[in-house]
Amino acid sequence: MTTQQRSNPVYRYVGGAAAAGITLLAAYYHDRAVFDEHREGIVCMRGYPLVGGLPDLIANKDKIHEWFTNEFKTSDVLTATMSVLGLPRHILTVDPNNVEHVLKGNFENYIKGPEFHNAMNQLFGDGIFNSNGRQWKYQRKTASHVFNVKNFRDQFTDVFVQEIEYMSEKIWNTAIEKDEPVDFHDIMFKFTLDSFILLGFGVQLNALGSKEKVPFAAAFDEAQKTTFQRFVNPFWKVTERLQKIAMPWKAGMNEHLNVVDTFAREVTEKRREEMARGEEKKDLLSRFMNARNADGEPLNNTELRDIVLNFVIAGRDTTAQALSWTFYLLLNHPRVEEKLVQEINEHITDDIMHDSPALYEVIKDMKYAHAVFYEVLRLYPSVPLNQKFALNDDVWPDGTHIRKGDYILWSPYSQGRNTQNWGPTANQFRPERWFTENGELKRESQGQWPAFHAGPRVCLGQNLATLEALVAIIFLLKRYKFQLVPNQNITYQVSLTLPMKDGMMVTVEKRE
Ligand code: HEM
Ligand SMILES: *[C@@H]1O[C@H](CO)[C@@H](O)[C@H](O)[C@H]1NC(C)=O
Ligand SMILES: *[C@@H]1O[C@H](CO)[C@@H](O)[C@H](O)[C@H]1NC(C)=O
Repeated sequence: MTTQQRSNPVYRYVGGAAAAGITLLAAYYHDRAVFDEHREGIVCMRGYPLVGGLPDLIANKDKIHEWFTNEFKTSDVLTATMSVLGLPRHILTVDPNNVEHVLKGNFENYIKGPEFHNAMNQLFGDGIFNSNGRQWKYQRKTASHVFNVKNFRDQFTDVFVQEIEYMSEKIWNTAIEKDEPVDFHDIMFKFTLDSFILLGFGVQLNALGSKEKVPFAAAFDEAQKTTFQRFVNPFWKVTERLQKIAMPWKAGMNEHLNVVDTFAREVTEKRREEMARGEEKKDLLSRFMNARNADGEPLNNTELRDIVLNFVIAGRDTTAQALSWTFYLLLNHPRVEEKLVQEINEHITDDIMHDSPALYEVIKDMKYAHAVFYEVLRLYPSVPLNQKFALNDDVWPDGTHIRKGDYILWSPYSQGRNTQNWGPTANQFRPERWFTENGELKRESQGQWPAFHAGPRVCLGQNLATLEALVAIIFLLKRYKFQLVPNQNITYQVSLTLPMKDGMMVTVEKRE
């Protein structure tokens, strides 16, 4: 504006009116984002005039799970609303009944919404995590055929044992010989990646054999981080472009996607060649390559790419993280470790370790091992925060009025640490809480313990993950004694799942 314009009475008038208007708006929207409606009957999280919770969201972006946990710590309210400039209206709940209602009771009303889809689309496409309705259903049905008892007993257990034997030799025995510390978290990611790529797609990736991250895994991790940022940063399109301009040499989302797409394409092409040679497989990949999509058509390469990548995140990250947090907690709670080792020694002999069907059966009876795993996932759920979108108005069990178009956030992480849900010991690692008075294992309702989700979209790999984790825990604890390297800050990286930010360095000895 020039001086002449500014002194013009019309402009002065407009300027004054604008300032007065903003003041009025700020007074009216004093606790929430401008133009967000006040929501009667729902506690509103702290907000500033016109921008609402945006400053708090920015300030807490690296410890978002603690933020949400603390939000419900001091009050008896388990549901709150968040109004953030640039984001649609969110209702956040850690109330088990509400969670069960959204995921199960009124399943049809809550879908993965447009915000979810926009943020996730580039990486996940129309894969099972990112789709609704018919598109979701055919994938769920096709994949579910793979998860049958026979496969578990005869094939999956074998793959896990085979990979653990390789890991023992390659990583742990070598570390003992050389007396070198190892990043446990990194090794677990390699273990679950190798195992899942082998059992799902028939490819021997051998990440455990390479010192560095395999390029596919590195690109995949970066793409996931960016994807999560898109959820919490309303201005991601601009931010990402600016980053690219400021640091053009740094690989961005497109470069990472290129790497992961290439991987998925190579896996599928290899299988097509095998099928052309008449080799028959019945794994996840073959099931999908022989399946029909929601329109009754064979799947094209884009659809297969989406399926491969969705299953990799499902099968790799979650279980690797659960294993890492298990050992983190065990190493900090020697009493629990000792009790678990005792159960292992009572059930597992060297013979059983190499007879997969027998191993599979014995593991089912190891109650304390199961309790440990459930307890880890209560405190460190691999999917710590999740979102859905309301198609229609609804009323929740706690009386909260949901409106069409609201986004629902629920936080298994904060839910597990809430004393109203789990009593005064909510923050303690106590596998004993999973036993009834007469020593039976207790399974909580899906709403109370949503680590594996709930209702029709409950985790399809729940039994697979539990088996994989328990096989690994058993073999590792039976053979080795780990210790944390002192002076590390072990904490989570805010992402779609719950990785450790800087890994977890351990030293290892043979267990006598
Ligand atoms: C400790 C390990 C695991 C945990 C904590 C876990 C947890 C979850 C959660 C919370 C969801 C819901 C995600 C959402 O829809 O937003 C989910 C879905 C899913 N999980 Fe797992 N998961 C684990 C391991 C696995 C494994 C090993 C597989 C192997 C195939 C797997 C396959 C799936 C699939 C296919 C879905 C999508 C289900 C659907 O939408 O119908 N998961 N899992
Ligand atoms: C693959 O199929 C999907 C769904 O039917 C369709 O949207 C997409 O355009 C197809 N892609 C290619 C490359 O043919
Ligand atoms: C761990 O975190 C604390 C506090 O944030 C910091 O003072 C310390 O230097 C960190 N230690 C390491 C090994 O990074």
